[in-house]
Amino acid sequence: MNTKEHVLRLLEECKGKSISGNQIAKELNLSRAAIWKAIKDLRQNGYDIKASTNKGYSLCIESDLLSRQGIVSHLKNKVLGEHILTYQSLESTNQTLKKLSADGACHNTVVVSEMQTKGRGRLGRSFYSPKGSGIYMSLLFKPPHSSQSNFPSVFITTAASVAVCRAIEEVTGKQIKIKWVNDLFYNNKKICGILTEGITNFETGAIESIIIGIGINFSSPSDKFPSELTEIFGSLYQDQEEASHCTFSESHAIPTKNLLIASILDHFFDIQAELKSGSFLEEYKQRSCVLGKRITVLSPTESIPAIAVDINETGGLIVEQLDGTRKTLQSGEISIRPEDLSSGWK
Ligand code: BTN
Repeated sequence: MNTKEHVLRLLEECKGKSISGNQIAKELNLSRAAIWKAIKDLRQNGYDIKASTNKGYSLCIESDLLSRQGIVSHLKNKVLGEHILTYQSLESTNQTLKKLSADGACHNTVVVSEMQTKGRGRLGRSFYSPKGSGIYMSLLFKPPHSSQSNFPSVFITTAASVAVCRAIEEVTGKQIKIKWVNDLFYNNKKICGILTEGITNFETGAIESIIIGIGINFSSPSDKFPSELTEIFGSLYQDQEEASHCTFSESHAIPTKNLLIASILDHFFDIQAELKSGSFLEEYKQRSCVLGKRITVLSPTESIPAIAVDINETGGLIVEQLDGTRKTLQSGEISIRPEDLSSGWK
């Protein structure tokens, strides 16, 4: 870490409160001049840092630029902060993490970007990723060697969906539902999509690495969603103003994107202990907004009406067609009409 990053870490750790230049200099064993230069650089990078003669420096409580230091300051499990990389702009965080993985990046490496220019969605679609209003992050999961050949990768997506729901609820207090397989909904609108990509060993056929890409619409984009997306997509907060000025009951800190990212990392780490037993599946089912509802199973060639009946032990969706036959979908796409989605919404 360079001086600027060290200073940012201290400011993030006591965000909203003042810390004197002397204190910072002492803590980092640096001169007051070096601290002043770091503060100047941080301000140039967009950080709102107030200075007062008697109290010192304070990072504005509403400041929400993504940074490793900002994320780490909220992490419960600090070890997870060791391999977090933040960027201003990337084509796709999944793509960058894939390259890093090929170059030997380790388990739990995280890539986060303020925006994406070629954000990728499932089934070859793109993912709208404007600056400032979303969270675009990818996590690297390396299955233990012993389980590589039979690791159920669909399971990891299911686990990730539950982990993200838990994190959003913890940080925002908002109740989140899951549309199979991994779309997260708030108020009947999709606020998060997850794209899981596996990297397979060519010789053994085993899955060596899994990239879990998470895209969250935190606040509504300043340009609004493109018209073809407004029907389906929503955001956790209606606009950026609300997102940055909201205060919550005592149990909820002011939500910044850094805080939500930290909570996702903590919850994803915790849920890994449940992968073997699959105990999170019960919660996945309870959060489902399609079980018991009329849906359409979509494929490139046809659309089949069905009822979503159950989720099996590997996260597959059991559907019943109109003629009563049942089948299990392990991957793919379903759609649900907005009126069916909202019926019985808890
Ligand atoms: C979907 O809903 O189809 C999945 C969307 C996944 C988007 C995320 S944003 C971070 C990561 N990088 C990408 O290019 N895609 C995923």
